[in-house]
Amino acid sequence: MTSKNILNGRELSATRRNFIRSVAVAAGTATLLPHALAQTAPPYPDPNENCMPPVTIPPSVPFKPVPRPVVQRKSIWALSSAEQRRLDEAYTLLRGLPPDDPRGWLPQAHVHCFFCSGSPGNPSSVEIHGGWYFMPWHRAYLYFHERILASLVGDDTFYLPYWDWDLPVHSVFPPLYLVPGSSLVDSYRFTGASPLTYTLDAQFQYYKIDIAKRMAAPDYQLFMGTNPDQMTNHGGVIENGPHGLVHVWVGDPAVDFSNPMPDMGILQTAARDPIFFAHHTNIDRLWAVWNATSPQHLNPADCLWTDTRWNFFDENKQLTSISVADVLNTDSSLFYNYGLGSPFAESVQSPARAFLPGEQKTTRQGKQPTTRDVELPGDVAASPLEAAEAVTAERPLLILHIDGIQVPPHLGAAVRVFVNLPTATAETPSSSPNYVGYFVIIPKVAPGGGQHQHRPTNIALDVTDELPPLLKGAKKLQVTLVPSTAAKRAPEQIDMTYDRVWVESK
Ligand code: C2O
Repeated sequence: MTSKNILNGRELSATRRNFIRSVAVAAGTATLLPHALAQTAPPYPDPNENCMPPVTIPPSVPFKPVPRPVVQRKSIWALSSAEQRRLDEAYTLLRGLPPDDPRGWLPQAHVHCFFCSGSPGNPSSVEIHGGWYFMPWHRAYLYFHERILASLVGDDTFYLPYWDWDLPVHSVFPPLYLVPGSSLVDSYRFTGASPLTYTLDAQFQYYKIDIAKRMAAPDYQLFMGTNPDQMTNHGGVIENGPHGLVHVWVGDPAVDFSNPMPDMGILQTAARDPIFFAHHTNIDRLWAVWNATSPQHLNPADCLWTDTRWNFFDENKQLTSISVADVLNTDSSLFYNYGLGSPFAESVQSPARAFLPGEQKTTRQGKQPTTRDVELPGDVAASPLEAAEAVTAERPLLILHIDGIQVPPHLGAAVRVFVNLPTATAETPSSSPNYVGYFVIIPKVAPGGGQHQHRPTNIALDVTDELPPLLKGAKKLQVTLVPSTAAKRAPEQIDMTYDRVWVESK
């Protein structure tokens, strides 16, 4: 059974989308979001969408903090009814701005599209995902979004709430964003079936995404990723695990990355859904929490990071240039915090890291698992038993890197990683001791678009706990990549290649 949906003059296979939708309806959840479920298929974004900034760009002015009382951003679940109304009113006003107003709903969503490579037909050269720009860029973006909403409701104390999906009880879709008729509703979500079968917490558990452990990432490289201009760069453990999973989950609770769902499931359209901002405010909070929980949790001090600047339109339609350094102390420059006490740790230059890049070759990853033999770093190879038995605090951090991952821009990938279990399949449970982690690549654009290539993605998994026991008695290290969906089967489609697999000991 294949039904087709004609969009932009192209035919798109809609079999699976319709299947999921009919399951949601059959489960009796149609009453939650009747207008969304009435759609036959999500309208994919125009592959030729132009999300470039306006052709005549006004000169930008440098960002200057304008002091006002510091506000504390709160959880969606903690808003008073007056705050709930204010939020709804703010998005109503935002959606009502004329289409050529740079502060408006779609122009703001286009800003996100532009900063994540643009659309296939109108690519941009900027990409802030997949590395150390992810955290500060989204912080700046949220800040201007928040100021615009605040000025629309004429209330300086307005703030963006966060969706704290890291709390199991809040790992369902926030009801406030589902009230029929509310400006917080987006028609292109698959929230209907999610509370019944697949809560986010269930997904986190299935993939063993231990958020507390990720929040204990000992350095910024692991936590927020590294410089994307370096060959060995990778994204951080918040971006590559929970962040991507929440995006795709909003579009498809079964989290099948081979079938991307707008709005949230595709970066080109994600910021059209108001929940995007609540999701990212939570990511922003997790960054502040990470900074505040240990004096070792330092941001990069590298000026390649701190001096990087981006332009955003502010609440007065003034194009404003803001730097990474401008957003690091939210209390004194952006005038908000998360009530954490001192959320800002002083930056120091972190030491250069030693690494052992793996064999240079390319593996094509289809639906079947693929396995690589991987060399161990010298110190681990020299004393695998010692590494296996060391449980002291001084034992080295072991990072498994998978570099040079490429997928076509309209496809994503969800991949579980096993060590020394080349027979692993999509059915192998994540409770297997050989399961060491998981990564996801979010689709960038709609199917049927152009073929412009994206920068390859690198992944870093902390395997300090998992790896040593698996090395006991083992002659070599084998890393098996298993494409899978939350339904414990292979995805319908995957088209991925990866280059280097290597272990870093630091
Ligand atoms: Cu800019 Cu959650 O993506």
